[in-house]
Amino acid sequence: MATYQFIDHTYDVVVVGAGGSGLRAALGCAEAGLKTACVSKVFPTRSHTVAAQGGISASLGNMGEDDWRWHMYDTVKGSDWLGDQDAIEYLTRNAPAAVYELEHWGVPFSRTAEGKIYQRAFGGMTKNYGEAPIQRTCAAADRTGHAMLHTMYGQSLRRNVEFFIEYFALDLIMEDGVCRGVTAWKLDDGTLHRFQAQKVILATGGYGRAYFSATSAHTCTGDGNAMVLRAGLPLQDMEFVQFHPTGIYGAGCLITEGARGEGGYLTNSEGERFMERYAPSVKDLAPRDMVSRAMTIEIREGRGVGPNKDHIFLHLDHLDPKVLHERLPGISETAKVFAGVDVTKAPIPVLPTVHYNMGGIPTNYHGEVLTLKDGQPDTPVPGLMAVGEAACVSVHGANRLGSNSLIDLVVFGRAVGLRCADTVKAGATQPEMKDSYTEAHLARFDRFRNANGSTSTADLRLDMQKAMQEDAAVFRTGETLASGVERVAKVIAGRADIKVVDRGLVWNSDLMETLEFDNLVGQAAVTVGGALHRTESRGAHAREDYPDRNDGEWMTHTLAWFDDVTGAVRYDARPVHSYTMTNEIAYIPPKTRVY
Ligand code: FUM
Repeated sequence: MATYQFIDHTYDVVVVGAGGSGLRAALGCAEAGLKTACVSKVFPTRSHTVAAQGGISASLGNMGEDDWRWHMYDTVKGSDWLGDQDAIEYLTRNAPAAVYELEHWGVPFSRTAEGKIYQRAFGGMTKNYGEAPIQRTCAAADRTGHAMLHTMYGQSLRRNVEFFIEYFALDLIMEDGVCRGVTAWKLDDGTLHRFQAQKVILATGGYGRAYFSATSAHTCTGDGNAMVLRAGLPLQDMEFVQFHPTGIYGAGCLITEGARGEGGYLTNSEGERFMERYAPSVKDLAPRDMVSRAMTIEIREGRGVGPNKDHIFLHLDHLDPKVLHERLPGISETAKVFAGVDVTKAPIPVLPTVHYNMGGIPTNYHGEVLTLKDGQPDTPVPGLMAVGEAACVSVHGANRLGSNSLIDLVVFGRAVGLRCADTVKAGATQPEMKDSYTEAHLARFDRFRNANGSTSTADLRLDMQKAMQEDAAVFRTGETLASGVERVAKVIAGRADIKVVDRGLVWNSDLMETLEFDNLVGQAAVTVGGALHRTESRGAHAREDYPDRNDGEWMTHTLAWFDDVTGAVRYDARPVHSYTMTNEIAYIPPKTRVY
């Protein structure tokens, strides 16, 4: 093995990731007087939050009466009762203040005629505990994530967060179960770095790129999740993968749910607005899992559109062009570029596309990472926190409602900052850093850097993405999932024969993509394996061989550990929090999910 030298840094807090949750956490920590670093593999404003379109949910009540309790009810029901109700209460109760904070920092929200923040309808958001759709999603046209990310980057700089940009995080520095920091590779000069901290906060986003067709950026490789698996810690509920109903057919780019919120609708080859049959009360504004299943059924039953009858039409052509120009300018352009469609004249060809990971690193609502230890499922891992899509708080349970992601980022990003303010002492002396903590990090890095097999990373990655796309899809069966488990296991074994051509350390995208692929493959294994393990249907996990929800056996979170050497996956369970945070709202008991 080559000799590598680390450059050392010491901070009170290190945040890995500079998307919406990472920036909100970092600026909160810095505001509390903690010396805070933010390490990111991309320039902060290129983080995937920038692609979030439709909006951020909060019961502001600007477009009619609203109540955080209604938002809570919708989120619990949307989660198919897998969400932790204490965390959901925390989210929905704190959502309005989090949106006003963004407004005061400068997010240019769209406005109502009276100058209030504009809110649009989104799937599964209702008034009075499911009575009728409500406008709860606050929007900056269809570029809400872009507006939030730029605003929070500015606010982070203002609070002296120290950014380490284009540093690729490698692994967690662990000492006897305590997280002491993180290692990283600086991409533009090839140096290696050790960031020691009292708290490491993983804000590394989702792993959509485990699939072939995803709305996620190519950078969405779940690096933090993978570091957690390699540290011998579990991930939670990974079998729940959200397919967004309206990815552009062929290209996979997102067409916001806000398009349906503004009055758009879906049709099949018979010109029928088929969602009226599947969700008579909310129709096209049903939750995403239901709309994606309905579209898949229409296609399977021969009512898809196009020459191959393999997609669905999204109509916006009946809407006032002024509305499209003001509220949906981004997707109007995307449809033109990627589908060649003028949305004022023709429907957009769409297909359910992988969009979001409900599963991730288990945390409580303070953002502290949890593990199962001595029979205790909610044992915090000292020194380690997680937030955003990387985390599984779990507020989204088995299915996330649209626009509940952006609010998750800022509410829990803020919660993490508050927790650090309470638990981290600025400038406290930290234990000595030993080389033995990072030997395995360097060994892995060096192994891939010098990998001299005969299979390209691109080929192995494609095999994994095809297996996930085909076998862990909107509908699953024991047979497809078993095939997926086998195909992913073959890819894992294939790592032994991987070939990296570039041996350098500076801007070595070959090595970086290989490390990202290696991060993805463990997550693919626990996703498809977890889906085979869970013998029921719930939210986004639709098993055709187990079509019913089984609360008796399965109203429980899945915990999954991955052995990076053998590729074996081990499962256990963690109880769903069937209690609320305060007594102001009672636990919401499970019911059949009808819309
Ligand atoms: O459709 C959208 O604009 C996506 C929003 C979300 O995933 O929350």
